[in-house]
Amino acid sequence: MKGRNDQKFACTACGARHATWLGRCGVCGEWNTIEALREPSGAAGAAPTATALTGVDASKVIRIPTSLEEVDRAMSGGLVAGSTVVIGGEPGIGKSTLALALAAHASRSGLRTLYVSAEESEGQLAERARRLGAGSAGLDVVMTAELAAVLAVLADYSLVVVDSIQALSDPELGGQAGSVNQIRHCAQALNISAKESGATAVILSHVTKDGSLAGPKVLEHLVDAVFVIEGERSDESRALRCLKNRFGKVSEVGFLRMGESGLQDEPDPGAAQLEDRLAGAAGSVMTAMRDGTRARLVEIQALVTPNAREVPKRQFLGLSSQRCSVIIGLIEHFAGVKLDRFDVFMSIAGGHASDDPGLDLAIAAAIVSSALQRPVPADAAVFGELGLTGEVRKVRGEAERSAELRRHGFGRFVAPTGGEGASARRTPVRTLAEALEAMGLSRRHQA
Ligand code: TYD
Ligand code: MG
Repeated sequence: MKGRNDQKFACTACGARHATWLGRCGVCGEWNTIEALREPSGAAGAAPTATALTGVDASKVIRIPTSLEEVDRAMSGGLVAGSTVVIGGEPGIGKSTLALALAAHASRSGLRTLYVSAEESEGQLAERARRLGAGSAGLDVVMTAELAAVLAVLADYSLVVVDSIQALSDPELGGQAGSVNQIRHCAQALNISAKESGATAVILSHVTKDGSLAGPKVLEHLVDAVFVIEGERSDESRALRCLKNRFGKVSEVGFLRMGESGLQDEPDPGAAQLEDRLAGAAGSVMTAMRDGTRARLVEIQALVTPNAREVPKRQFLGLSSQRCSVIIGLIEHFAGVKLDRFDVFMSIAGGHASDDPGLDLAIAAAIVSSALQRPVPADAAVFGELGLTGEVRKVRGEAERSAELRRHGFGRFVAPTGGEGASARRTPVRTLAEALEAMGLSRRHQA
């Protein structure tokens, strides 16, 4: 049987190892992708020296902090030196803006940094740098869309930004830039070269509306960490979310704001929700939503309006329609509020989306509040998951949610039993009926 040591060739497209050179890879079917592997240094075939895991120094992971606390947070402390990272996002969301800011900061702290612009002209890049105040002597730029040109200079730098992987191509491979083959090939080549030279590589990648890393899911497997910038172009708030991190916590999230001079930290994204809220309106309920490992204040809104003629409409923007349908069933059964002749429209204010089960109780309260045309007290907030027997269940991130509500000055909040127990501010509830009662939303309160 052939061992791995006999496999001296590898496919640059799929990474499969082969014992001999082939014109076509038998694994992925690509032509002209087989290359000889480099001989490992030291005696050929020498066994690697194994080290006890406890003897490996975790502090050897060197982090390059960024200038933004929220970005460091999403990256579990900053870019890891020598790692390859993908930053994804829809076109126009701020990938180039963020990457240029990271590059400028790194170069100012002494790292030789290269920004490869495969999409934009020097003028566009210079204009962005001017807005960001990103001019720095140690920051070089190169305008090229050819992989070979990037590989030729990559080793001279400690940090290399490639903007973007969809615009980069290797003419020898054939096919258009942005094709799955080109993306895979270029990303693999960049990754290998960066690993060989010890450079940190930041690869920008367009993400389609449905959130897939345009075409190549394969990008995710190739690199050490994947982050996406989320948000609406029409709005200035952004979130940098971690989808994969070999050197840190997945599902970390940083909150940012796109301003006149680039992305800024937004440590309190909940504040905007309070500013825009129409206090005292029926159908509005404040809650703390779990986002990554954090909790953020959001407003759940419901509009329940009579519709006796047609099949009632149900529209749940940004919320799970399955959960909302179940909640409507629970309200009818346990709160005695009949909704079969009412349209129900729901959303999380500000265009957020979440399937956090901890929103259940706030969703229920918003629906009942709108149905009864009775507002919940302006200083009250609520969170909790609902079970099918009408019970209020504990939620993940209980402490973070409570802290977020306190931070925003909620005089009282209704939450599951357990956790902190009862206090002047916190009313623990066991059932949906108890929760509605505590918010003045039970039918008994009806005039
Ligand atoms: P950009 O980083 O070019 O997006 P991407 O690389 O993801 O396609 O940013 C696009 C938008 O951001 C653009 O419409 C202009 C806006 N912008 C600001 O609002 N402030 C700024 O400081 C900069 C540089 C851009
Ligand atoms: Mg861009």
